Amino acid sequence: MKHLLSIEDLSREEIDSILDTAVSMQDVQHRDVKKLPTLRGRTIINFFFEDSTRTRSSFELAGKWMSADTINLSGKGSSLSKGESLRDTVLTVDAMGVDLIVIRHPASGAPKQVAEWVNCSIVNAGDGTHEHPSQALLDAYTLRREFGDLQGRHVAIVGDLTHSRVLRSNLLCLRKLGARITLVAPPTLMPSGIASWSERDGFATSHDLDAVLPTVDVVMMLRVQRERMAGGYFPTAREYAVTYGLSPRRLDLLPDHAVITHPGPMNRGLEISADAADAVRSRILDQVSAGVAVRMSILYHLLAGEGSAT
Ligand code: NCD
Repeated sequence: MKHLLSIEDLSREEIDSILDTAVSMQDVQHRDVKKLPTLRGRTIINFFFEDSTRTRSSFELAGKWMSADTINLSGKGSSLSKGESLRDTVLTVDAMGVDLIVIRHPASGAPKQVAEWVNCSIVNAGDGTHEHPSQALLDAYTLRREFGDLQGRHVAIVGDLTHSRVLRSNLLCLRKLGARITLVAPPTLMPSGIASWSERDGFATSHDLDAVLPTVDVVMMLRVQRERMAGGYFPTAREYAVTYGLSPRRLDLLPDHAVITHPGPMNRGLEISADAADAVRSRILDQVSAGVAVRMSILYHLLAGEGSAT
C-alpha cells in the first residue's frame, strides 16, 4: 500500500490486516510508556485545510507513539494564505523529503490529485463530501470489538447523509465486511441518485427512524453539517430533533444489545440527545480511542512494510 485515499482501493484482506494490527497497537496505547521504534527516522506532515479535533490529534499521536517526526500545518498558517497554489505547497513539502502527508481538504478529490503530484505517501483525512477512510476503519474496528464478525449485522446510518464523507467511506467498508445497511434521513438529506446507488450496492433506505431502530445492531448517528448547508434542508432544528434525533424515547426502541456510534463532533440536542450520547450502550469514546490505534496501524501499513508491528 502506498496511499490511503479511498476505502474503494482496499481489499477485504487489506481491511482485515489494518484492523488486526490495530489490536496490537491498542495494547501500546494502554502502556505507561507509549513508544514504539517502528517509524524512527520517518517524517509525517499533517496538513489540515479544515478544522479537526479528533482526526488531527490522533494522527499526530499515532505518528509520535511510533517515533516518527510529525509536523502540523494548516491552510491558514501556511503560504497558501499568501496565494501559493496547493500544488506548489505540497511540492515544497515533498521536496523537503517527508515520507507521508496526511491531508484534510474541503475539495472532494484533493488528496488523490495531490498523490499524483508528489513522491511521498498520502492519507486522505477527509475530502469535502467524498470520503474519510480512516474514520470508517476505526468505526469498523470499534464494531468488530463489539460483535466479532460483522457479517449480517444490521447498521442504520442516520442523519445528514448528503454532506457526509463518513457515510460514503462507511458504506463501502461495512459492505466489504458483510454488514447489512439501512440509510435513514429526511428526503432533503438523502444523497441524490440514492435509488440507483442502493440497488447496485444492496443497501436499504428509509425515512422512518422509529420503524428501523428495533431491527438494528448498530445505530450510527451523523452530524448535521450546517457549515456545508447553503439553504434550508429542514424547517427548524427542533423539528429535525423530533423527527430524526436519537431522543430518550427512541433509545427504548433499540434492542438490548444494540450500540450507538457517532464520529463526532456531536450536536447534542440536535441529532443526538445527551441521554443517547452518554448511554451505557454509547461507543462514542471507544471510537475516539480506537482512532489512535487504527491510525497507528494505517501509518504502519504505509511506511513500515512487512514484519512485526510491535
Ligand atoms: C467527521 C468529519 O470531519 O468528516 N468528523 C471526524 O473526522 N471525526 C464528521 C463530521 O464532521 O461530522
